[in-house]
Amino acid sequence: MLYTIAAASLAAGLPLAYLLRNSLCTTMAPPTPAQPIRVVVIGASCAGSNAVIGLVRNFTQAQVHVTVIDKRGHAYYYPASPRGVVSKDFIPKIWVPLTHLFDKAKYDSSSLAPRHVVVQGTVSAVDAQTVTVAETGQVYAYDYLVVATGTTFASPYVQDVNDKAEGVQRAQRYTSALARARSVVVVGGGPTGIETAGEILHSYPDKKVTLIHGDDLLLSSALPEKFRWRLTQRARDFGIELVLNDRLDFQPEDVSQAGGPEERDDLPYPVRTFTTRAGKTIEADWLISAIGGKVETGYLDAWFNSADKGTPYAGLRDDKTHTIKVTDTLQLDHPDLKHIFVPGDANNFPCTKTAFRSNFQGQNVAKNLTVLINQRLSGKSSGTPKLSPYVDNINAMLVTLGPEAGVGIMPLGIIVGDWVVRKFKGSNMTLSRAYDSLNVTYPA
Ligand SMILES: *[C@@H]1O[C@H](CO)[C@@H](O)[C@H](O)[C@H]1NC(C)=O
Ligand SMILES: *[C@@H]1O[C@H](CO)[C@@H](O)[C@H](O)[C@H]1NC(C)=O
Ligand SMILES: *[C@@H]1O[C@H](CO)[C@@H](O)[C@H](O)[C@H]1NC(C)=O
Ligand SMILES: *[C@@H]1O[C@H](CO)[C@@H](O)[C@H](O)[C@H]1NC(C)=O
Repeated sequence: MLYTIAAASLAAGLPLAYLLRNSLCTTMAPPTPAQPIRVVVIGASCAGSNAVIGLVRNFTQAQVHVTVIDKRGHAYYYPASPRGVVSKDFIPKIWVPLTHLFDKAKYDSSSLAPRHVVVQGTVSAVDAQTVTVAETGQVYAYDYLVVATGTTFASPYVQDVNDKAEGVQRAQRYTSALARARSVVVVGGGPTGIETAGEILHSYPDKKVTLIHGDDLLLSSALPEKFRWRLTQRARDFGIELVLNDRLDFQPEDVSQAGGPEERDDLPYPVRTFTTRAGKTIEADWLISAIGGKVETGYLDAWFNSADKGTPYAGLRDDKTHTIKVTDTLQLDHPDLKHIFVPGDANNFPCTKTAFRSNFQGQNVAKNLTVLINQRLSGKSSGTPKLSPYVDNINAMLVTLGPEAGVGIMPLGIIVGDWVVRKFKGSNMTLSRAYDSLNVTYPA
């Protein structure tokens, strides 16, 4: 479960450039319908924005109208958040603007059809035809829906606010407060926990940083052992104190927070003694939880469970993981709900969740939607076109230890070290690539 957290740590380098180079290959322009086909996309971070970018390139707004609903109104690129834990300047950059999301859209200037829109709002209800936004009560009818709300994490990775100014301010307060801690314990040796420990030790070589992980090597056992072994060695050499094969039970209030509107000033912070399950004691004055990313699909629950048990949709959302059941084409796993796609962390597709993979799944959804919509526009409504299954062939991951070190695995199982990780991920945690794909200039 831990590795789902990091969602992030992806191997920017290689296939991304190729994935982003989408071809504009609509040969026969399909006819324009009387009303545009309505596509609603919930969540615009990795999977959602990639689905949108692909779709609006292939159709004019008179053919397909896209409404993007995102609670933050930004693509919040949480894979980069471990850097924000130590750098106040970096924090606002993690909120990537969606202002250029439709730059690549085709427009039919003769048409009166409305332009695509981004709506900042929280979804309060969904059914087979509509999505309702809580703040305005507005109901958006759709022909196709893309559910891409992914996973959310607690502070310090994501602040529980949707307003950028407030979210940035809270995160910066956290960063200032953490700077004054002397000994930090990070719970969870998935990519997020490892990268956080690495960032802290890089920025503050005098702090004692302890990382607790439930397995005998870092990361999840779903990943190759050779990679995990190298990363574990490197993390130790880097100076992170590893407590492996052990767990720490803690209460939500044990997780350190910056506190109030002012930074914490109870200096020096009181040192606490934490005892692991195996009985080891760790002294620290700051605790970070890098476990417990939550898949954000609660807004589907009421619909799936409406009229209680025995409804046809009960069980489409897993009670424990909150993931949504999809078929191998990433469509909802129900014969009546094939017009709903779930790319990225929100689906139950069995793979390590990473931002990189979410981007890829979003692009695949754009392609499949293109096929479905083309068929619909051309009036050949008999029979559903055959969609090919999703083939997961992404096997690369880079885990940083601060901006200059790290270990990664590349296709064919090749293990790479500091140099490659620094070159492809270290300087900005692949955030600049998120800007590139959203056609926004990376802030200096
Ligand atoms: C546009 O549609 C074609 C298939 O008709 C697909 O191959 C292509 O990838 C689509 N473009 C994007 C950007 O998704
Ligand atoms: C990306 O944005 C720039 C302006 O920031 C604009 O000139 C350019 O045309 C955009 N790219 C595309 C593909 O629309
Ligand atoms: C449909 O999407 C899957 C991934 O979900 C992709 O592998 C497949 O190529 C897509 N099919 C078409 C026809 O684009
Ligand atoms: C962001 O990081 C990538 C990979 O490390 C690097 O190639 C790129 O130059 C960086 N961009 C900026 C603006 O720093």
